[in-house]
Amino acid sequence: MMKTIIVLACLAALATANFSNHKVYRVNPSNKEQLDVVRAFEGIKGVDFWSKARAVNKEMDIMVSPQIQMRFTDTLKQNSIAHNVLINDVETVVQREKMEKMMSPRVEAGKINFEQYHTYDTIVEYLIQLESDHSDIVEVRSIGGTYEDREMVMIKISTGGSNKPAILIDAGIHAREWIAPATALYFIHELVENKDNRHMIENVDWYIIPVLNPDGYEYTHSSTSNRFWRKTTTKGQRCDGVDANRNFDFHWMEIGASDYECDETYAGPEGFSESETRNLKNLVESLGSQTKLYLTFHSYGQYLLYPWGYTSALPEDVQTLDDLAHDVADAIYAVDRTDYTIGSSTNVLYAAAGGSDDWVKAVGGVALSYTIELPGGGWNGFDPPASAIKGVATETFEGLKVYHAYVEKNF
Ligand code: ARG
Ligand code: ZN
Repeated sequence: MMKTIIVLACLAALATANFSNHKVYRVNPSNKEQLDVVRAFEGIKGVDFWSKARAVNKEMDIMVSPQIQMRFTDTLKQNSIAHNVLINDVETVVQREKMEKMMSPRVEAGKINFEQYHTYDTIVEYLIQLESDHSDIVEVRSIGGTYEDREMVMIKISTGGSNKPAILIDAGIHAREWIAPATALYFIHELVENKDNRHMIENVDWYIIPVLNPDGYEYTHSSTSNRFWRKTTTKGQRCDGVDANRNFDFHWMEIGASDYECDETYAGPEGFSESETRNLKNLVESLGSQTKLYLTFHSYGQYLLYPWGYTSALPEDVQTLDDLAHDVADAIYAVDRTDYTIGSSTNVLYAAAGGSDDWVKAVGGVALSYTIELPGGGWNGFDPPASAIKGVATETFEGLKVYHAYVEKNF
């Protein structure tokens, strides 16, 4: 058994995009000049910004390939920019994660747990099982196909009746952010399988798409590909993939997005060029004014973000958005002191047009629209180790209760 595992691990290591000696630096620019020096590395081959933040005095985690490391660290030193090595060898982390996956027990068909990151098939099977076990409150359907013809599965949780306000949730628009689908799955589990939460589905309907980018998600799970893939998998001329969260057609490509295929923030040839974003758009349009709240889950950084992402100007209802975010953050903090930063995404992070949150609010007509960046893995890299899923998911669920209470009370 052990021997087989080791052989498998070695085979996997050979075939995979290799992150040997890739390092992740935690960089902390302390003024505008230093920030510009760091930002000049964006888009350079071999440099991958893991952090969302682009701001003075905000830590930024940046993965750098061996070829660029010398140039990178020399530049930081010359400009006296504070930095340290967060991860010495990313490949070790990837292998550890793989090993963890191989050692974790196989889940029975239709079952799920929160001790491991699951494949898309396992997730879909679980949802279908839920539908057959709880046909009175669960409906599972596809909102459309992906580029690679996977069905984008959505679960509707409802106790029936009409004209109830709805909460729409998605996760995993960015492939590598595994903790987001894991957390969305936990929400589904709690809402459907935990009787104590029955009140959360009495007066509010839920629409949850746990994996918005299944092609990309599967790609990051396959042992022969790239754990840190972010985009869709649409074939390109030079490079594949579109950043689906730059692809929504509202101020599309105006700022913080790239028109170069090989970039991580490539916005696509036009707004809604991707099936994944089009399918979400169609869903939002078909639900219409029933949807009162939209939450899109990402990782990492612990941010509760509201529009706008395309401008530093604030929406008219910023006070409502901000107050609610604070109540949510307080509830999460109370569990285990996880601290969230709150604000408009342009002001807290950076300007980036074409995100789902902006489109859903401005065009989709859902006033309450948030991007939630869940906690990251710290020393473990992009996502928390599987053993930490439960902690993140349960504390975030406390925040979800606040969102639910708000919607129930106000609509
Ligand atoms: N980390 C997310 C991204 O870069 C943040 C999105 C915030 N929303 C926005 N419309 N820019 O895609
Ligand atoms: Zn993301």
